[in-house]
Amino acid sequence: MSDVSRRAFMHVAGVAAAVVGATSTNAAVGNPSRPTAGKIKVVSSANGLEATRKAYEMILAGSDPADAVVAGVGIVEDDPNDTSVGYGGLPNERGIVELDAAVMHGPTHRAGAVASLQNIRHPALVALKVMRRTDHVLLVGAGALDFAKAHGFPEENLLTELSRKIWLRWKETLSDKDDWMPDPADNDIPVADFFRSRSVPLVQSAATRDVKVASDISPMKFRRPTGTIHCAGMTRLGDFACTTTTSGLAFKIPGRVGDSPIIGAGLYCDNEIGSCGSTGLGEVNLQNLCSFAAVELMRNGASPEEAGMEVLRRVAKKIEPRLRDKDGHPDFGLIFYLLAKDGRHAGVTMWGPEKFSVTDENGTRHEDCTALFTRP
Ligand code: GLY
Repeated sequence: MSDVSRRAFMHVAGVAAAVVGATSTNAAVGNPSRPTAGKIKVVSSANGLEATRKAYEMILAGSDPADAVVAGVGIVEDDPNDTSVGYGGLPNERGIVELDAAVMHGPTHRAGAVASLQNIRHPALVALKVMRRTDHVLLVGAGALDFAKAHGFPEENLLTELSRKIWLRWKETLSDKDDWMPDPADNDIPVADFFRSRSVPLVQSAATRDVKVASDISPMKFRRPTGTIHCAGMTRLGDFACTTTTSGLAFKIPGRVGDSPIIGAGLYCDNEIGSCGSTGLGEVNLQNLCSFAAVELMRNGASPEEAGMEVLRRVAKKIEPRLRDKDGHPDFGLIFYLLAKDGRHAGVTMWGPEKFSVTDENGTRHEDCTALFTRP
């Protein structure tokens, strides 16, 4: 960025900050004396239990919180059995794994992100490099891959046998008007379990994001996964960092980018206030910049739970009819994980029951999310 364009950017950023400040009603805005918990805390999505434990231990040992949360989610990026993140993540419609990730650092208010990154197992680590070793925030596609290789990240095929077989089953059962045909004798248990666990009766869903699947579970629809991991940590001094990493919507159009690598949507932290991050259907989050909105609500006095629930209500109110079920409720999952400077935390979900992960001085555990709607 040239000096002129950098100055122009700083001016625009300053105006935006003034607008946000002008709408604030809380005297604590910009006040570094907002009380800190004085205790380490790490929160994550349900799949991030070990991530919170790892990040907590690293913060306790003196690591920067950004290094700690990225190392935490690295455990799940490595896990071939988590089909929503990193190695073993479900691929795009062409069978190629494309990963999105971002990191945000409270003390410097810097951020780094990568999107549509292929062949690199740890996109959150690459996002951290973007934050620390470039003057940019977001690198995508071939440029992100070149950057990762320049920093010594090895290229590898991220498609495991399980994710390949799930993708192939999806492709072969998508339509009876193409030339792909499933093997009628195929009885791969893990693949069948995958579809069964995500299937809903046709009558319960109106969302066009669902597709028909194999005849063995017909007449059912398959809810495409948008699983992800988010992890946020706070040090004893009240310094925050957060990260979100994902393989995104399963079988997406190549090049589709969700909320995870977008600062303000898939994650956001303000070192004076707290952090928020998300998992679930990225498009609705992108349309509402939910993580930024939730942190701003906390700035104005809302608790983490109140802030997260208000954002969920806003999303539920604004979504299009095609994303509603027969009762008019949102027909998708969306979860936020929130952590405030004073040590309060919450997980909130569009549909319960759901869990989220926490590690603090009371140990490592799953807690219940507060739900806007609950399935019977
Ligand atoms: N929240 C993950 C995605 O939609 O890509």
